[in-house]
Amino acid sequence: MDLGLADRVYVVTGGSKGLGYATAAALVEEGARVVVSSRDEGHVTAAVARLGGSGRAIGVEADLADPGAAGLLVETALSGFGRLDGALVSVGGPPVGSVASASDEQWRAAFESVFLGAVRVARTVLGSLDEGGAVGLVLSTSARSPIPGLGISNGLRPGLAMAAKDLADEVGPRGIRVFGLMPGRVMTDRTKELDATADEGTRARLLSTIPLRRYGAPEEFGRVAAFLLSPTAGYVTGSLIPVDGGALRTP
Ligand SMILES: NC(=O)c1ccc[n+]([C@@H]2O[C@H](COP(=O)([O-])OP(=O)(O)OC[C@H]3O[C@@H](n4cnc5c(N)ncnc54)[C@H](OP(=O)(O)O)[C@@H]3O)[C@@H](O)[C@H]2O)c1
Repeated sequence: MDLGLADRVYVVTGGSKGLGYATAAALVEEGARVVVSSRDEGHVTAAVARLGGSGRAIGVEADLADPGAAGLLVETALSGFGRLDGALVSVGGPPVGSVASASDEQWRAAFESVFLGAVRVARTVLGSLDEGGAVGLVLSTSARSPIPGLGISNGLRPGLAMAAKDLADEVGPRGIRVFGLMPGRVMTDRTKELDATADEGTRARLLSTIPLRRYGAPEEFGRVAAFLLSPTAGYVTGSLIPVDGGALRTP
């Protein structure tokens, strides 16, 4: 199946590693070009090289918590590649801990990057899209069901999911789509860090709650995200799509 991605241009935030990078790689594999961003210049430069260099990818060093990041990303896509067709919005996950144990400062910092940073990129990109454009937000299964020990994620993701739904209503009449993705346990640096905080027994119990009995590969996430961003998924909007090996207890 041809996804119709050739020569299209997408912004991928949190695109130097993990789920963002895997999505950028899947998009490039299908002939698209990408603007990838993250906070660390070295990470961004390495990602651009792995994606095939400047003809395929442009790197931008930007923290999503910075109010100027969204505008910079859109300008870079338009000046560097001459068009913009959408975005995949990913960002580093919030810290581990319960809702009650997280400090005000942790809540504020997570809100600035995970919530407001994502909303800012989404609305700025949406303002530049024409019919056929699409924006995907990387959320978590915590948008639907709380994950023990990830209180801030449990607090913020459901709101982001509803913000995505609201945005989908707003831009749908212009032929533009918005959707959310709910990764379960995909083997990225973030997952390795979370695993390191659990003992062997806890990890085994966690694995037993995944019907496929394994973690996902980043490529398995990236290919779903690239499909959903593509015009092939032209009638999918306002939806939350799990990529979780069947772990979510809701259909
Ligand atoms: N992996 C999973 O199974 C899973 C499951 C549920 C939810 N999620 C969520 O999905 C998102 C991505 O997870 P991941 O596993 O891909 O994480 P990851 O492997 O740690 O990658 C995170 C990426 O985001 C960048 N980043 C971090 N903070 C940023 C910021 N403030 N502004 C811009 N870029 C930033 C990082 O690069 P720099 O360090 O250079 O900034 C990196 O490129 C997270 O929000 C995570 O909570 C992941």
